[in-house]
Amino acid sequence: FGRNVHVHEVVASTQDVLRDLAEAGAPEGTLVVAEQQNRGRGRMGRSWVSPPGKGIWMSLLLRPNVPLLQTPQLTLLAAVALNRAIERVTGLDIGIKWPNDLLIDGRKISGILLESATEDERIRYVVVGMGISVNLEETDYPEEVAAKAVSLRMASGRVLDRIELIAEILKEFEELYSVFNASGFEPIRLLWEARSINLNKPTALMTAGGRIEGIPRGISETGALIVETPDGGMQTVYSAEINPWEP
Ligand code: BTN
Repeated sequence: FGRNVHVHEVVASTQDVLRDLAEAGAPEGTLVVAEQQNRGRGRMGRSWVSPPGKGIWMSLLLRPNVPLLQTPQLTLLAAVALNRAIERVTGLDIGIKWPNDLLIDGRKISGILLESATEDERIRYVVVGMGISVNLEETDYPEEVAAKAVSLRMASGRVLDRIELIAEILKEFEELYSVFNASGFEPIRLLWEARSINLNKPTALMTAGGRIEGIPRGISETGALIVETPDGGMQTVYSAEINPWEP
């Protein structure tokens, strides 16, 4: 990872730049980084504010040899990689909000967006988009996100070197990805669970199929969230918006 790096001043979204490179045959580990995105996107169709110079806005190409079903596992792997790398560089204590938001004291510092190209239930490639609020200041955030977000600079009180962070993230990502390829999802699952802020806490999940209330108990071997519902049953959830719930 990191042998093929494409750096841009301004792009619409690094996801699209990398997708074009992937279609043209770029190798696994190719990275696209931008100083600024003017159409950065997040999960659930949201936009992602990516002002110039202060964050890490980047996309990493994976060509995993696994069935489409295993994409959620890669989603969690990405969160663990970012979590470990950022903790190592900053010394901050960072939790993972399911599936892959990174939080400091309940405020978001990083989001991850996986987009995959598929064919016959196989993955052709995955574009892992990572947005990290590194040196943003309070005033860089739009009003509607200011209360819910924080940057590494705001949390640590120091300006951080983005290159150092990117290098550490790529190293960690490559390491975990080779563990995943050699030993499967189980080691990643355990690392993820140890960093989760949602396990064993009452939670409401908005899924495409409706609202589920319950207590997340862990991650399944396929990478889904296992939620214990009030009737004592277990539900597995692959995609949802998760929030605290007052039973
Ligand atoms: C989320 O939390 O909703 C995911 C945010 C992902 C943002 C990153 S920034 C680099 C890459 N390019 C994009 O347009 N989005 C991702």
